[in-house]
Amino acid sequence: MTTRNKEQLGNFGAGDYWRMLRARGIRLPIQYFFQTHLFDLVRGTDTHTWLPRDRYIDPPAGEDHGGYYMCSLTNIVRKAFRVTERWDGGNFKKRVFVDVGSGKGKVVFAWKECLEKSGISQQTIGLEYYGPLVRVAKANQRKLGIEDLDLFREADAASFDYRALGDQFLLYMYNPFDDSILSAVLDQLDGLDVIVVHTYLDHQECMSAAGFEVFHRSGGWYPGSRMTIYHRGVVPPKRDKTQGSITTSQSVAARPDGVKDSPSKTA
Ligand SMILES: C[S@@+](CC[C@H](N)C(=O)[O-])C[C@H]1O[C@@H](n2cnc3c(N)ncnc32)[C@H](O)[C@@H]1O
Repeated sequence: MTTRNKEQLGNFGAGDYWRMLRARGIRLPIQYFFQTHLFDLVRGTDTHTWLPRDRYIDPPAGEDHGGYYMCSLTNIVRKAFRVTERWDGGNFKKRVFVDVGSGKGKVVFAWKECLEKSGISQQTIGLEYYGPLVRVAKANQRKLGIEDLDLFREADAASFDYRALGDQFLLYMYNPFDDSILSAVLDQLDGLDVIVVHTYLDHQECMSAAGFEVFHRSGGWYPGSRMTIYHRGVVPPKRDKTQGSITTSQSVAARPDGVKDSPSKTA
């Protein structure tokens, strides 16, 4: 990869840690190291370096509605796995997992590791509309020795044919786009059984308008560690009558079997 290409896809150095320290105190660089940088150091991948939108060359159509590349925190991906797997029970493996706006592939890799550790097999893909990021994700995939030609797809999430993959989905979104694109994605999934994990923003209004209900919410000092998980089912999940209605201000899990999830701690 040439220096110019590296520049285009983001670069990172000690100065970035210094900037984080000055901006937010010691907590930010420590979290950055343990929850993003370390993931790459251990695996030899390239996922942690961000890519601001002004460095997208020939940006894809619709980029004015989209966010830039920044990877998820490792502990948040693992938490999303734990919460959804526990809530969904035996149905979990039937869902197709889609990281919507998969960037350099970190969520897909971390999710696959969780699946492997739990002995669960689940179809997993990443969708990303910016070609250079898809190529980095595929290079990371090769480094990890994962053989799956369809793991990363270069596609716009708003027009992707989800139905060709199945009728039950688990979508993970770390702030890929605004409500106008989110609504288009949810429309594509109309009539299907869908869990959506949002980290960063909760998109509450848009999700409620599309008929989704919150079943988990957890916060944190860092926006990327805030998580809200929604479900919209063909058949609504059974509720434990003693549980009351699902609120948006606390972590409440209405599992299909009615068992209550424990309130989450801050990530
Ligand atoms: C904040 S990053 C998240 C990356 C990855 N999901 C993670 O959590 O590590 C958001 C990503 O969404 C991508 N994106 C934005 N709009 C999109 C769209 N309409 N279709 C597909 N990808 C999109 C951006 O290019 C960027 O890589």
